[in-house]
Amino acid sequence: MNQSINRSRTVCKIISNRPLVDQVFEIILACPEIVKKVRPGQFINLYCRHSGRLLPRPISVCEVDLRNGHLHLIYAILGKGTEEFSGYKAGETMEIMGPFGNGFNLDSSDGNYLIIGGGVGTPPMVELCKQLKGKKTIVAGFRDNPYLVDRLKQYGDVYITTDNGSAGFKGHVVEFIEQRGLKGTIYACGPAPMLQGIQAYAKKHGLQAYLSLEERMGCGFGACVGCVTKVVADTDTGWRYKKVCKDGPVFDAGEVLFP
Ligand SMILES: Cc1cc2nc3c(=O)[nH]c(=O)nc-3n(C[C@H](O)[C@H](O)[C@H](O)COP(=O)(O)OP(=O)(O)OC[C@H]3O[C@@H](n4cnc5c(N)ncnc54)[C@H](O)[C@@H]3O)c2cc1C
Ligand code: FES
Repeated sequence: MNQSINRSRTVCKIISNRPLVDQVFEIILACPEIVKKVRPGQFINLYCRHSGRLLPRPISVCEVDLRNGHLHLIYAILGKGTEEFSGYKAGETMEIMGPFGNGFNLDSSDGNYLIIGGGVGTPPMVELCKQLKGKKTIVAGFRDNPYLVDRLKQYGDVYITTDNGSAGFKGHVVEFIEQRGLKGTIYACGPAPMLQGIQAYAKKHGLQAYLSLEERMGCGFGACVGCVTKVVADTDTGWRYKKVCKDGPVFDAGEVLFP
């Protein structure tokens, strides 16, 4: 599924950059050439203007608007880079590179899907749900304030979980799917402990599952080995490293070895 990588930066116009909930922003960028190539589950490298922040910040593609050539990205403010992005205004420009990564496999013939997002792992599920044909049960977990719920509701039955019970089920997504016994081909993105729980659930119930890892990255396009993860392999040790930015971020659940 990997395609040839374009390593030149694109300067694109910011159409809007607005908060969805506290500390979470949606930025819409005009980049028709990138939009034409993007697949669900791929990510874009965003570059800071501050000269001390050289490394790109990888952000998943949330939605593509082919008609207008717009890319929708959702980012949570975590550190200096994302904080800088939150100050950008409509009409300004920013530099980006991509799309990168393999993206989700859309060829599953199951027709019954269990789509699971955790926190900032939820945004990539929007374009996935849009492009995946079949029955979709969508579970999105948040610490407190949910977002993207109405957009996801266009594509299937949506269940929300929050850590503090302020909306939906009180608890984690894995507890919820276990309690409900939800089944289907799984597509999941979120923090490692959540993905590990989903991996175990899929194994127990014999479900096909694809996990999108949000590993810490360096270069973001395969040059630095800063993003490796262990996968099952036919080697003396039984494992080898794969690069999340290039071989992933989506992996078959059966091959990922969590620490
Ligand atoms: C494939 C992929 C998709 C992602 N999609 C999203 C998304 O859609 N929305 C969202 O809010 N976040 C997403 N993240 C996480 C996001 O990249 C980090 O939150 C962001 O890079 C933090 O940058 P910062 O400057 O604010 O934080 P800092 O901690 O100041 O960042 C310092 C450096 O560490 C890197 N870094 C820190 N945390 C991460 C992380 N979790 N993953 C990768 N690099 C990291 C930064 O890129 C930067 O180079 C994604 C990560 C990956 C790997
Ligand atoms: S981030 Fe540099 S190789 Fe993956």
